[in-house]
Amino acid sequence: MEIFEMTIKDLEIIKENLQRDFDEFWNENILREELLCQDRKYIVVKESNEILGFAGIWISPTDVELMNIVIKKDKRNKGIGKKILDEIINLAKSTNLEYLTLEVNEKNVIACKLYKNAGFNVIGIRKKYYNNTDNAIIMKLDLK
Ligand SMILES: CC(C)(COP(=O)(O)OP(=O)(O)OC[C@H]1O[C@@H](n2cnc3c(N)ncnc32)[C@H](O)[C@@H]1OP(=O)(O)O)[C@@H](O)C(=O)NCCC(=O)NCCS
Repeated sequence: MEIFEMTIKDLEIIKENLQRDFDEFWNENILREELLCQDRKYIVVKESNEILGFAGIWISPTDVELMNIVIKKDKRNKGIGKKILDEIINLAKSTNLEYLTLEVNEKNVIACKLYKNAGFNVIGIRKKYYNNTDNAIIMKLDLK
């Protein structure tokens, strides 16, 4: 398994099956815009040229925000999420900013576990943030 910077070429490979293989919340156009943004950085995990997952950050003037982390459905629960998150944390540290923040649906227990294991702390809740129903948990990791 190796991690690379994500490119438009990678998107071209996965775009047809983005929702089926990865996550129903993402679509090609949004991801393309993200990849073209100067202040975003996306990475991919590959094995024998197969894309197993990707993740991205937004480097704002004040902190780094995790935009997304998603592992291919049939490759989950094998430690790949942890691997890509470790790389994202290293990338965030290289910016010299102080915090990596994120929002996660409080019902997403696996993602919450992944982030808590990596040292993120809960700093707030946004009530009914998702579909006016589920709460979002705001988390922060001190990068210094
Ligand atoms: C959240 C996600 C990225 C995790 O990636 P992953 O590769 O499956 O996670 P890992 O294998 O590295 O496991 C991370 C932790 O979750 C646990 N875990 C993973 N899948 C699990 C499952 N099905 N049931 C219970 N625990 C599980 C692991 O045991 C591990 O905890 P541990 O280190 O204490 O053992 C992946 O499930 C995903 O892509 N989900 C859909 C997109 C999403 O929700 N992204 C987060 C948005 S904020």
